[in-house]
Amino acid sequence: ISLLGYNTFGIDVQAKHFARFSSLAELQELLEYRNARAGATVVPLPMLILGGGSNMLFTYNYNGWVFKNELKGIDLVKEDAEFYYVKVAGGENWHRFVLYCIGHGYAGLENLSLIPGCAGASPMQNIGAYGVEVKDVFESLEALDIESNTVVGFGLKDCAFGYRESVFKHQYKNRFIILNVTYRLRKQPVFNISYGAIEQELAQMGIETLSIKAISDAVIRIRSSKLPDPAQIGNAGSFFKNPTIPFALFEVLQKEYPALPHYAVADPALVKVPAGWLIEQCGWKGFRDGDAGCHAKQALVLVNYGKASGAAIYQLSEKIIDSVLQRFGITLEREVNII
Ligand code: FAD
Ligand code: EPU
Repeated sequence: ISLLGYNTFGIDVQAKHFARFSSLAELQELLEYRNARAGATVVPLPMLILGGGSNMLFTYNYNGWVFKNELKGIDLVKEDAEFYYVKVAGGENWHRFVLYCIGHGYAGLENLSLIPGCAGASPMQNIGAYGVEVKDVFESLEALDIESNTVVGFGLKDCAFGYRESVFKHQYKNRFIILNVTYRLRKQPVFNISYGAIEQELAQMGIETLSIKAISDAVIRIRSSKLPDPAQIGNAGSFFKNPTIPFALFEVLQKEYPALPHYAVADPALVKVPAGWLIEQCGWKGFRDGDAGCHAKQALVLVNYGKASGAAIYQLSEKIIDSVLQRFGITLEREVNII
């Protein structure tokens, strides 16, 4: 079947097999079927778990099984004096879950409003925005181990979260299917408006009394003003990560480019710089070749204006990496999953 409607980049590729699951039993049945189809002596075709398809770029037809996660449910599983523990099934839409929490007064996810995709993918790259990452509010998750066919629990340390990183992108790549995630959300909110743009937006909105709803509204307004809506223009959000570079290199660059923005990281020998700024300096912002382009309002976002192939988007990303390397001596790393 065509995956056109299943990835926000709007790439028209075919999947050899496609199925949906809405319970653990259905998922296990699909895995068994996949093994049975291969037979005892043949390695089964590869498998891809699909949430909202908002962080992937298909570059060729997928010769394997695509399993779409449609597990549903949100439950308050526990509470104590300080926290609500809220379990969300992997197939729930992330933003709807955030709004549900805001509506119930569960605080902590408001800065992560309007991120596309499903809850099951949220720990994959430790999604983050506006000063908050999933790891800050994560309690635990349950995942199906496809090797042993058992459900395994993961705590915070087991996930090895980092900036757009987790154990599921490395050591456990393609081994676990995330079934549900439990978030630890505050009864008394601790507002995080450390990201300058939120404070400015709240002031513009005329907000005098802070609330999780007000922060969510501000984040939605900021995001809508610069990130392309995948329903209008195909994209997968930031295509590259913001690179962390040696402080010594930063000092050299800063002499030539005094406006280069930068952010402190835990290690004082390193500093993070925004890839969007580097890409814009290289002249790519607003660039378009056929239907593949670099967004005019956010250079970190590559876009498909219509019928671009995954390969064309990928080639554009290669050119951008080359030019940023030539000019700044910095190698950009892709954030989007290339398939
Ligand atoms: P998919 O794209 O379907 O999958 C992503 C990867 O996770 C794939 O490798 C897939 O196989 C795997 N996967 C998915 N579900 C499971 C599961 N249940 N178990 C095991 N593996 C699984 N990200 C941010 O961090 N911050 C942002 O601010 C942000 N903004 C964005 C803005 C736009 C406009 C867009 C289009 C994307 C943005 N993203 C952002 C990226 C994206 O929304 C997130 O990475 C999101 O978590 C992806 O969810 P998904 O369900 O669409 O995952
Ligand atoms: N900038 C430019 N030109 C551009 C884009 C950005 O100069 O074309 C500069 C901005 O002026 C600003 C800095 O770069 O000084 C940072 O820009 P912005 O606040 O827009 O955020 P970002 O670093 O580009 C990151 C995340 C986003 C997340 C926002 C908000 C990564 C790879 N991206 O983007 O996440 O929403 O911060 O926290 O870390 C995603 O992962 O898909 C994503 C959208």
